[in-house]
Amino acid sequence: MIWKCKRYLRQSCLTLALSCVICLLLKIFAREGLISNGRNCFLEKFQHSLGNGCLPTTGPCNKKCSELEVSTESLYGVNCTAVLQGEVNAIKRSQLLKEQYKATRYTDSYFTNITCNCENFIRNRKYITVPLSENEKQFPIAYSIVIHERADQFERLLRTIFAPQNIYCVHVDDKSSTSFKTAIRSIASCFPNVFIARRLENLVYGSWSRVQADLNCMEELLARHLTWKYFINLCGMDFPTKTNSEIVRKLQELKGRNNLESEVASEKKQVRWKYHFEVINGKMVQTKKVKKPSFTSIFSGSAYMVVSRPFVEHIFKDPKVKQLIEWSKDTYSPDEFIWATLQRMPGVPGSEPSHPKYDVSDMRSVARLVKWKYFEGDMTRGKPYPWCTGAHRRSVCIYGAGDLNWILQQHHLFANKFDIDVDPIALQCLEQYIRQKTLVGCTP
Ligand SMILES: *[C@@H]1O[C@H](CO)[C@@H](O)[C@H](O)[C@H]1NC(C)=O
Ligand SMILES: *[C@@H]1O[C@H](CO)[C@@H](O)[C@H](O)[C@H]1NC(C)=O
Repeated sequence: MIWKCKRYLRQSCLTLALSCVICLLLKIFAREGLISNGRNCFLEKFQHSLGNGCLPTTGPCNKKCSELEVSTESLYGVNCTAVLQGEVNAIKRSQLLKEQYKATRYTDSYFTNITCNCENFIRNRKYITVPLSENEKQFPIAYSIVIHERADQFERLLRTIFAPQNIYCVHVDDKSSTSFKTAIRSIASCFPNVFIARRLENLVYGSWSRVQADLNCMEELLARHLTWKYFINLCGMDFPTKTNSEIVRKLQELKGRNNLESEVASEKKQVRWKYHFEVINGKMVQTKKVKKPSFTSIFSGSAYMVVSRPFVEHIFKDPKVKQLIEWSKDTYSPDEFIWATLQRMPGVPGSEPSHPKYDVSDMRSVARLVKWKYFEGDMTRGKPYPWCTGAHRRSVCIYGAGDLNWILQQHHLFANKFDIDVDPIALQCLEQYIRQKTLVGCTP
């Protein structure tokens, strides 16, 4: 809050700075017991003023509803309907327009600037500020989003998954640029249900810090919001392939169980926790020191999960989990086994038995859709998925517009990876699709 007032002053948003200071004073009085409603009045005020009344369940929508469509945003003549249907010519055309499109990207300072007036920001960027159904309202979701660059891509992700009943913790890599951090803080400051994690880790690829970032968010999410039902973690390169309503329905079908990749670990992967690893000059290095084996069997999986609130609560209460956490801290890429292991540990809420019959592959879990380079190819010859049409990073496909048709046929809630630098049109068309589906029942 103080940070926000300072920002307004610095940016010479004087009226906003003044109301911010007044609000801050009210908050201080509230803490002293002078005012009963000491919550973030400034934020609540404009949230009320934004009730745009687009509720598909309560009959025809008013005019504001069409204002929430994102398809009207500049696309240089790309036909997203055709792209999503996999039409070759439309996809080819989108490839030609990519470079032109990249030139229109928003910079970090753009976000710092436009969020000076949150009300305008929320309206111009078409955030949906009311719960769209009673079912969604009664089923809030907690998100942890770990990012380090590309404020514009983060903002797109946020506005696509944003719902006022949900809560979003954003972990910004401590070593990311000041302009990036300021942009993300500015965006978060516009929403009562989006916050930056209090403790920020310096993220080192393959190290414990990745898990710690999620743990920092988990702990704060539990403390700040008492009724969320499920937890989902994301990174900046994820994007939803389902609407909030569809995500809620999928989570309700899980009936309290968690859903994530968890399989018996291959011989090759076991090296990751057989030896003691150390961070040296910002890189993970394997030492000759052999580690004491874990007290529980280690399973392999993904850094991304869909877990129940009791699962998250259990992490901070259970001594056995604490023991596993301590043991994992000097291993390689613990993010890719710790959640998978907890998912198979007896007594963990929503978990599955440890027997291999309960193994779940990435394609069978709903948490994340990923195309690994090694597995791409001809599906009629036994490959699990078609070739990537974008680019690769660390052997993972960065989706191109040509991947969307296949992606939308899968059951996963989120897909990884998207990169606005590789194919901005893939992101734009997917975002449009999700928004259109979200607004079903609204007249254009
Ligand atoms: C976009 O493509 C769809 C599917 O091929 C087609 O039906 C539609 O007419 C196209 N729209 C425009 C504006 O060209
Ligand atoms: C900030 O916003 C103002 C007013 O909308 C505009 O004139 C200015 O160019 C913007 N600055 C940046 C860096 O975007």
